[in-house]
Amino acid sequence: MHSALALLSLIPLSSAHFLLNWPPARGFDDSTSSNFPCGGFNTVSSNRTTWPATGGPIQLDMHHTQTDVEVLIALGSDPGVNYNIVMRPTFLQQGLGNFCVGMVSVPSGVNITEGMPATIQVVSNGDEAGSGGLYQCADVTLTLTPLSSSDYSSHCANGTGITTQSISNSNVNANETFPSGGATSASGSAAAAKSTGLAPQNTLAAWAIGAVGVVGGLMAL
Ligand SMILES: *[C@@H]1O[C@H](CO)[C@@H](O)[C@H](O)[C@H]1NC(C)=O
Ligand SMILES: *[C@@H]1O[C@H](CO)[C@@H](O)[C@H](O)[C@H]1NC(C)=O
Ligand SMILES: *[C@@H]1O[C@H](CO)[C@@H](O)[C@H](O)[C@H]1NC(C)=O
Ligand SMILES: *[C@@H]1O[C@H](CO)[C@@H](O)[C@H](O)[C@H]1NC(C)=O
Repeated sequence: MHSALALLSLIPLSSAHFLLNWPPARGFDDSTSSNFPCGGFNTVSSNRTTWPATGGPIQLDMHHTQTDVEVLIALGSDPGVNYNIVMRPTFLQQGLGNFCVGMVSVPSGVNITEGMPATIQVVSNGDEAGSGGLYQCADVTLTLTPLSSSDYSSHCANGTGITTQSISNSNVNANETFPSGGATSASGSAAAAKSTGLAPQNTLAAWAIGAVGVVGGLMAL
């Protein structure tokens, strides 16, 4: 009869969210991780990581079974809240533990120079519909030199069972989506997700109805 308790303790609840491990985040505090724009860490780090603008890894540690993820960047030494360059549009990720978003790059057409300071922002959906997002930021120095393949692999690992898939409304910021990939009422395309009546109240529910949510999203096309 202890087994039910043991099982419960293994179920990932909403307390841990996700961590940005490389480039290293400014910091992580569970209680402020939902604070825009950087999870409660508003001060730029003096310790920047050199990051390859032409294609770098973003190493995350996922604590929810299902997460909408988006990667943005703001240029400059202290960009404030100006995270308006999308490097990887919102997509759905499933599975726990190490997750590497591979070959993330500054979009062509954005004028970057060797040694330019910038801040990478990783955004996920919040725990409940309409609750906003979760945020982690890393201060970097951009380089146009690619990482060596060994340096790249040392910062890019996936746990077992990690999968990703695109969502129909990938133009919506991750902080404005349900865990199942649907848009919240804050954006125009919420109808499909809402009409299913399945807006998840927690991650476990999101995982259980994930397939339905994705179908709902596709039907919005
Ligand atoms: C600076 O960042 C590097 C790379 O993440 C880390 O190894 C080092 O400990 C950091 N140093 C300080 C003083 O934070
Ligand atoms: C969501 O994140 C994006 C990217 O940082 C930001 O521009 C937008 O204002 C955020 N939306 C909300 C509702 O916080
Ligand atoms: C790109 O930025 C550099 C440095 O700020 C500047 O000298 C150059 O004129 C810019 N190029 C374009 C095409 O805007
Ligand atoms: C990790 O998984 C993601 C999603 O499937 C993929 O894009 C990335 O290339 C993978 N990275 C490695 C090192 O396997």
